[in-house]
Amino acid sequence: MLVFAKIKSIQQKIKSLKKGTSIGFVPTMGALHKGHLSLIKQAKKENDIVVVSIFVNPTQFDKKEDLINYPKTIDTDLSLLKSIYCDIVFTPTAEEIYSNNIQSQSFNFDGLEFQMEGKFRDGHFDGVGTIVKRLFEIVTPHKSYFGEKDFQQLQIIKKMVEKYQIPVKVIGCDIFREKDGLAMSSRNSRLTKKHREVAPFIYKTLKKAKIEFGTKNASEIVEMVENEFKKQPLLELEYFEIADEETLQSIKNKDQKRKYRAFIAIFANKIRLIDNISL
Ligand code: PAF
Repeated sequence: MLVFAKIKSIQQKIKSLKKGTSIGFVPTMGALHKGHLSLIKQAKKENDIVVVSIFVNPTQFDKKEDLINYPKTIDTDLSLLKSIYCDIVFTPTAEEIYSNNIQSQSFNFDGLEFQMEGKFRDGHFDGVGTIVKRLFEIVTPHKSYFGEKDFQQLQIIKKMVEKYQIPVKVIGCDIFREKDGLAMSSRNSRLTKKHREVAPFIYKTLKKAKIEFGTKNASEIVEMVENEFKKQPLLELEYFEIADEETLQSIKNKDQKRKYRAFIAIFANKIRLIDNISL
């Protein structure tokens, strides 16, 4: 496994690959868990070589405290990557990526950026767009893999690739869950014991919403979920929405021809968790 911290070095390596070598790319912010590993394994199956980046991107954090506290486990990450035969790891510094100007580019994602996460995390998707576009330019992958846990991010990256005609196939992968249903996230490691114990309530409630979506309308389900969370004081509901998978706009009435998803964000103490379910 080769590890590069410099743009020039990884680009040199990529240029030296035999013509026609397919590159699968999994961008991460480190603190790797089984969800990441499943993306990497899929990338390995579908490409000749796999590149993983580990970079905690400062421009996508709207709260400084969240950036400072984001888990950093580089040594464990590298051993994990080696154990699953990752080929290349890219671990740049913020200076390497942004030089002296740690700022986002401004994007227009046709309104996707104003829904859900966009209402609560100022500038987040500009930060994500900036770094993913930059990493695509550096790594030049054929396919890139993203978890559906961040479904809005996945749709936004697909939109970016389409708008900027970036020649990468963006692949969304199923949410990887703990045995008790909690969606895997690097942030789970920061939960206190009691918050970790109640956190599976999030997915349990999403599953209940899915069942009720068969017979009830969206506003009744929203009300049901809000009432459920009132019974669970350790988890503070930030939003629950039923939205169209493509436009990400929340809906009132169902149209049989459209696909919908329920999206949720909660705070467990100060740790923010998100999840979603296809309806
Ligand atoms: O999903 C993430 O971990 C990040 O948003 C990503 C895509 C690596 C960009 O920093």
